[in-house]
Amino acid sequence: MSERLQKDTSSTFLDNMSLPVHRWFRYSAGFSAEWVEETVAACSRQITPGRTFRVLDPFAGSGTTLLACDRLGVPSCGYEAHPLIYRIAAAKLLWESDANQFFKAAEDILTAAQNERSDIGTYPDLVTKCYDEKNLAEIDSLKKALYSRKDASSSWQLSWLAFVSILRSASHAGTASWQYVLPNKKKVRVLSAYEAYSRQIALMYEDMKRFQECSPARHSVLLAHDARQVSPLEQGSIDLVITSPPYANNFDYADATRLELSVLGEISSWGELQSKIRPGLVRSCSQMVSREKKDTFHYLEDPLLSPIYSEIQKVCTELDQEKEKHGGKKLSHDDRTLFSGSGKHMDTLKPFAA
Ligand SMILES: C[S@@+](CC[C@H](N)C(=O)[O-])C[C@H]1O[C@@H](n2cnc3c(N)ncnc32)[C@H](O)[C@@H]1O
Repeated sequence: MSERLQKDTSSTFLDNMSLPVHRWFRYSAGFSAEWVEETVAACSRQITPGRTFRVLDPFAGSGTTLLACDRLGVPSCGYEAHPLIYRIAAAKLLWESDANQFFKAAEDILTAAQNERSDIGTYPDLVTKCYDEKNLAEIDSLKKALYSRKDASSSWQLSWLAFVSILRSASHAGTASWQYVLPNKKKVRVLSAYEAYSRQIALMYEDMKRFQECSPARHSVLLAHDARQVSPLEQGSIDLVITSPPYANNFDYADATRLELSVLGEISSWGELQSKIRPGLVRSCSQMVSREKKDTFHYLEDPLLSPIYSEIQKVCTELDQEKEKHGGKKLSHDDRTLFSGSGKHMDTLKPFAA
């Protein structure tokens, strides 16, 4: 393995913020595109010449693996179950579209927004806390101009992504390390929403040109699919799986996109985040457990877990006892939070996560 393959940042999205197309949406959960490219290139060299090498990313996130494969001309497929992240990745994969057409459509939206009447009284509290009146009015006008032109074109989907990706830079709210929005932590430098959008569409235009120059035709397919369900792919059609699944690290993929979903009007409360976004996702957060309240000990009876039954049974009993000491829903190991936890409980669980 080369030095670059082993570099510290291979598991983070950080370096992607300087790469065309990858940088269109900052996704804290992402991994390094360069690392993926090198891994795919190294593995594809090992197969019989003349055969097509195919890659699968069952937890595709913002599309890093698929874009890296597009750069190499390697066919790939990805699944993503988070509805917003799926749309973000799907829009990034439109890099091959006509950049001039996109730029014109996106500019028309900006011009129309400047003539729109805004109505900022309709947004949930979270949104009103994250923007001052001027910026919320600009965001509302952009959203109205965008949605009044909605169609199935690539240009519209790319303009939609430009709008979604400026929602953080136009907000004075801070962002915690895992992308959770912090309405009470104020940033000093905030861009006007029109300015942020204008810069974003210019960046996307340049990136499309650059990516098109150095990449063969697109060969990736992204499916809105729950990776826990039967694979829609033909058996034996994949040579390499390269992925970063939801880990037992307490990261809440639904909460990470709460601001974006709220501005778009797709959720209006915390409850809707739970009912509309979480059901399709593997959850690794101890704060939000499923309402189904399944019995953990019942799962332990699964013959698949028999080799680690005694160890895991001990941990579950300890967690049960710990839960009794706390109120609310937190610290539960019910349902899919079985392998997660926070603080010291993660340490207890490490042997099983390894
Ligand atoms: C660690 S992130 C992957 C990030 C990706 N490597 C990137 O660079 O953007 C894991 C992804 O799995 C998705 N996910 C969670 N449960 C899923 C499921 N049941 N099926 C498919 N995707 C799921 C999450 O929404 C999240 O985007």
